[in-house]
Amino acid sequence: MLPITVDDVRLFAHVLGATIWVGGQLIFSTLVPTLRRLGPDVLRPVARQLTRLLWIGFAVLIVTGLWNVVAVDLARQSSAYRATLMVKLAVVALSGGAAFIHTRVAEPRAKAVWGATSGMTALLALLLGVVLAG
Ligand code: HEM
Repeated sequence: MLPITVDDVRLFAHVLGATIWVGGQLIFSTLVPTLRRLGPDVLRPVARQLTRLLWIGFAVLIVTGLWNVVAVDLARQSSAYRATLMVKLAVVALSGGAAFIHTRVAEPRAKAVWGATSGMTALLALLLGVVLAG
């Protein structure tokens, strides 16, 4: 069997964080209509519990992302690689920021717009991550 390297563990943890942050938002967004139909007091506690898990996933992404940056040694990477990473970090910041605002705004339309923004930028960060890993 192939040996499991430290790099494998690093990328495993980063991808695990991504499955929670991206997958969690994607799946929850499809469940909202069903949760609403189950009654007025169902959506909020489910959303609150999921939010805790999503922020843990995001924290894992930040910590393992910094580990990635150290491991890939940016000085040895092309300017195109560094530019892609900068764009990815801006997209990650927008994804986290939009998610935070989404949890704070009460107006349904604003909540939907910020929620969708967080989800779409999370998907874009995922794509840019795969591009970086090559
Ligand atoms: C929403 C947040 C994020 C998502 C969804 C995400 C997703 C990913 C994915 C899927 C990969 C490819 C892993 C592979 O193919 O093995 C990756 C790689 C990478 N990510 Fe992220 N990431 C996020 C946040 C971050 C942050 C905050 C940083 C830096 C602080 C970062 C830095 C990197 C680097 C440098 C790589 C390349 C690693 C390598 O080639 O060894 N990511 N990311």
